[in-house]
Amino acid sequence: MCGIVGYSGPQSAATPLIEGLRRLEYRGYDSAGIALGTQGKLFIEKKAGKLSNLEGSLDSSLPVVHSGIGHTRWATHGGPTDGNAHPHVDNEGKLAVIHNGIIENYSELRKELEARGHKFSSETDTESVAHLLSDLRKKHNGDLSAAMREAVKALRGSFTLLAIHGDAPEVVVGVRRNSPLVVGLGNGENFMASDVAAFIDYTKCAIELGQDEVVTMTPTSVKITDLDGKAVAPKEYQITWDASAAQKGGFTHFMLKEIFEQPKAVADTLIGRLSDNKQIVLDELRMSADEIRALKKITVIACGTAYHAGLVAKYAIEKWAKIPVDVEIASEFRYRDPIIDAGTLVIAISQSGETMDTLMAVRHAKAAGGRVLAICNTNSSTIPRESDAVLYTHAGPEIAVASTKALLTQMVAVYLIGLHLAQVNGALKDAEVESLYKELLELPGKIEQILETVEPLRALTRSFAENNIVLFLGRNIGYPVALEGALKLKELAYIHAEGFAGGELKHGPIALIDKGTPVIAILPAGHEHALDEKMLSNIQEVKARGARVIVIAEEGAHVEGAEHIIRIPVVPALFQPVLATVPLQVFAYEMAVARGNDVDQPRNLAKSVTVE
Ligand code: G6P
Repeated sequence: MCGIVGYSGPQSAATPLIEGLRRLEYRGYDSAGIALGTQGKLFIEKKAGKLSNLEGSLDSSLPVVHSGIGHTRWATHGGPTDGNAHPHVDNEGKLAVIHNGIIENYSELRKELEARGHKFSSETDTESVAHLLSDLRKKHNGDLSAAMREAVKALRGSFTLLAIHGDAPEVVVGVRRNSPLVVGLGNGENFMASDVAAFIDYTKCAIELGQDEVVTMTPTSVKITDLDGKAVAPKEYQITWDASAAQKGGFTHFMLKEIFEQPKAVADTLIGRLSDNKQIVLDELRMSADEIRALKKITVIACGTAYHAGLVAKYAIEKWAKIPVDVEIASEFRYRDPIIDAGTLVIAISQSGETMDTLMAVRHAKAAGGRVLAICNTNSSTIPRESDAVLYTHAGPEIAVASTKALLTQMVAVYLIGLHLAQVNGALKDAEVESLYKELLELPGKIEQILETVEPLRALTRSFAENNIVLFLGRNIGYPVALEGALKLKELAYIHAEGFAGGELKHGPIALIDKGTPVIAILPAGHEHALDEKMLSNIQEVKARGARVIVIAEEGAHVEGAEHIIRIPVVPALFQPVLATVPLQVFAYEMAVARGNDVDQPRNLAKSVTVE
């Protein structure tokens, strides 16, 4: 949730810190702050509100120093004020700490520290760590790394922490537990951050960190130990993303750029998945043919938009592979007693690979004996590392908080899994799989076609900008699309939006329809389910009660009762969500712009939710 960056090297530290925070602002944007390590003391500046507020307060008096830490916050404990903004310091003002996550035992720590004379100045859980580290650093004769190791043993919860002390300002110490932190290895300079995007302009060489590993970083060295001080061999990897991929590239918003990147993202995720002998190639699953044939059940766990990819998985995998699929919101999964055994494949879907609810569900599934396959967009993040296998999507960095291209690639990933399972267990013939795979390869071009014709939709959307309720209707595989359309609109336009299964309309939601209520209906594709007539009846039912109806329908489909029709290319029915979602993304984007909302950083949200 919060974004964290640390720097030690020859540059004036404020520059890479602020640039890094700008790249991490998607993680939280309630307040921001930096601590610069000047010899003997610290320079601290922090401000409520967006990073631009902090930048505005950094005037020319900013000291040119060569190390520091920076933070952009998504508030948990204590409101988004200047005082609660990070960094937090000890009573001498010489030790500064930034934190992502939650310290669960902060109030007992605070009581103990106050009893020892420490004075607190914020309402945060983080400040306890600053005071604790201050005491422990003295105990360890000025060794901040030793202090961090001992402090972490006393902490409960999930956290990434970075600390710096004015007496040895070139040393930045970090640690992670259930929260992300990566090291960037530069030339005569080093970085630590929540996400590689923060330092990708400077280096593409990174180190992934395990649980409870403590990093001690100077301009020329990076040492990693466990909590007992035992050295840990660094696990280096190369970042494959381009620096330009994390910039807007001429678009007004990251979200719009990411919508337009979808053809490429889908194509990249599909590359090289059919062998010469017509087999779907999915070695990442790490399952033998016998293990696949022995599968009794699949359970998909995910949150937010990724959950909608999970619903698509249910329709596709059950249809093709004839294996029962449950889809569950990750935060609910682990608080009941899900039936998981060796015959269950658990699929965890997460763009970031860091969502705490999904991570905890993965651990719960593994502890219950399930095999976990992650579908993830972020290399070396926690969920894939803790899973038995991982299928990476190739959407590239997704910066806008509202997910777009990641979702489309997640859908493609579940199609590939479904086709592979069906081919191996014999539910589909090779020729059927090949034909469906070829249809998948057509999707990028068809998304492109939709994007080339969105201008009228953008104009139409603006005419709905004053509406405060929008309903979405879908049936069968159009139902997850309706849910996603509504979620996008809530996130971006702050409008009360709901997605319903068309058949449920008469069981309650129809009471919401009033004169002028916009209803967006997704007409089922391919006439495969003979459901289009039922959806046409739903359209008549809402229209008769005054609704303004927009219909998303494939080219050539018969539509009645719509005020506007958005045509999408024809695809096999199960692939329709990949296309039908795109106009709904554009609709939500345009509504947000028309209402003057912050598209890339909607209020109260964060992209990577690393608390439960
Ligand atoms: C947050 C974001 C959503 C996202 C969800 C799951 O709530 O605001 O856009 O869908 O997390 O994120 P994940 O990284 O696990 O896909």
